[in-house]
Amino acid sequence: TRIIFRDRNGRDHAADAKPGETVMQAAVNEMVSGIVADCGGAGTCATCHGYVDPKWADRVPPPTPDESEMIEAGCFDVEPTSRLTCQITVTEDMDGLIVRLPPSQG
Ligand code: FES
Repeated sequence: TRIIFRDRNGRDHAADAKPGETVMQAAVNEMVSGIVADCGGAGTCATCHGYVDPKWADRVPPPTPDESEMIEAGCFDVEPTSRLTCQITVTEDMDGLIVRLPPSQG
C-alpha cells in the first residue's frame, strides 16, 4: 500500500505501508522529515500531524474524540482534514493516499 507524503514544497515522498501499520510508521520507516512521532504513536505528542488530502477525507475513518482534542491542543496550522498520522491504520484500500505535511513540520 503506497502512501504519498507531500512536503510544503510540493515534493512527494512515497512510502510503502503494510496493512495494519499506521501512516506514521510508514513515514518513519521511509524517514520522511516532518513526521517526528516523539511519543511513538501514543497519540499524545502531536508531532505526527498531517493533512489527509480532501479527495481521501471520506475514505479514512474519522478521528476519535481523543485525537480531535489532541489536534486542537497540540498542533499548529490546524485544517479541517488535520490528523495525527499515528492514529490512522493503513488498509489495502488506502493505496495512493496523499498526506500533506504541515508548514511547521519540514
Ligand atoms: Fe505522537 Fe502521533 S506519534 S501523537
